[in-house]
Amino acid sequence: MDKFVIHGGKKIAGRLTVEGAKNAALPIIAGALLMKNGESTLHNIPPLRDIDTLMAMLKHLGAAVTLDREKRTMTVNAGTLTANTAPYDLMRQMRASFLVLGPILARMGKAVVSLPGGCSLGPRPVDLHIKGFAALGAEISEDQGYITASAPRLTGNTIYFDRPSHTGTENIMYGAALASGTTRIINAACDPEVIDLALFLNKAGARISGAGTPTMTIEGVESLHSVEYSVMGDRLEAGTYLMAAMTAGGEVEVSGVEASALDMVLKKLREAGAETILRDGGILLRAPERCRAVNAVTFPFPGFPTDLQACLMAVLTKAEGISRIRETVFEDRFSHVMEMRRLGADISVAANEATINGVAALSGAAVMASDIRAGAGLVIAGLGASGTTEVLRVYHIDRGYYRVEEKLASVGADIQRIAS
Ligand code: EPU
Repeated sequence: MDKFVIHGGKKIAGRLTVEGAKNAALPIIAGALLMKNGESTLHNIPPLRDIDTLMAMLKHLGAAVTLDREKRTMTVNAGTLTANTAPYDLMRQMRASFLVLGPILARMGKAVVSLPGGCSLGPRPVDLHIKGFAALGAEISEDQGYITASAPRLTGNTIYFDRPSHTGTENIMYGAALASGTTRIINAACDPEVIDLALFLNKAGARISGAGTPTMTIEGVESLHSVEYSVMGDRLEAGTYLMAAMTAGGEVEVSGVEASALDMVLKKLREAGAETILRDGGILLRAPERCRAVNAVTFPFPGFPTDLQACLMAVLTKAEGISRIRETVFEDRFSHVMEMRRLGADISVAANEATINGVAALSGAAVMASDIRAGAGLVIAGLGASGTTEVLRVYHIDRGYYRVEEKLASVGADIQRIAS
């Protein structure tokens, strides 16, 4: 198990280019299962462990998949699918594998998909996905940890989500794209990655409108054709680097990302004292000498992203004053708090709110990553801590960030991966 060793307290400066967005690439790759004719070519695919997991799932289902990691290009030929079961073994490695339910059902009339189970962010049910498919006419049953959904062809309907679900919206988009009639999703997720999936599916012949708004309309079509598509840049990776500059000090320019996808994040960083300059396809951030305290509430897009909550907390550990962060998206997403306390942070948690009393300095210690984003938060806290920080269990971080240590080192951070 690799670890990162960070000698913190050094300012960073330079330019970083982000990879394609993991959370856009995964649904787009799963969406390629819908295409019966020919081979789809997908560009800007980040060479991450989660992508490998989904590739293994597609191969298990009978699709032919290749990935050129250097060129970041994947091809998917889903002409013949030979299996309709998504086994637990692959599902347990990554919850997003549940995204194959919609495409398998739409293509094969029946899907048997393992329930993803709990995860380190809390219970994370999939009831909204299931209710959505039931509203489209699927017969659903559950047995021994597997969901079976069947419908010779799904039928369009109006679906009301109790709350916006990112992958829930995407799963229904697949089913509705090939359903008979028109589907409306009310209270759909508005994330930029949902828009990217809609653009991809529309290029393949789907008729989706309203993506990026709470009401999406999908007119079902008979079939989709293969396409060439380039995945959007990763707003979460970009946000992580901007926050790294905030903890370490200095300035970074991130490119390969649309600044509009980070509106709320940039607003909070400006409140904390950052100077930001927006460029075409990039953002330059200059960190203040010391950040100011800010309050933030995580919320579905366009709110502050839960996926950058740990990174923002890392920034605020050394800010002047008292900050409060309320987590409203996941039940249990403060696992990094205990670890940040080991670095000297003064953080208390009551229910879903963390109070961060900014300290003058953090000092290095050994800490443990428990999920992708908690791990990223610990890395950037380590950059801002004096002395040596060791971040253990970096395999969590590797699920969502490609060679993050090399990228950060390229702008002056003292961080190394040690195999152990
Ligand atoms: N929820 C339900 N029922 C459902 C679905 C969701 O109650 O059927 C709840 C969840 O438990 C959670 C909330 O709704 O409390 C929002 O969950 P959502 O469904 O939006 O999350 P997701 O689709 O499972 C995606 C990202 C996550 C990201 C969340 C929130 C992908 C592959 N995953 O998950 O990304 O945190 O949206 O924005 O897109 C990550 O990249 O590290 C990551 C965890």
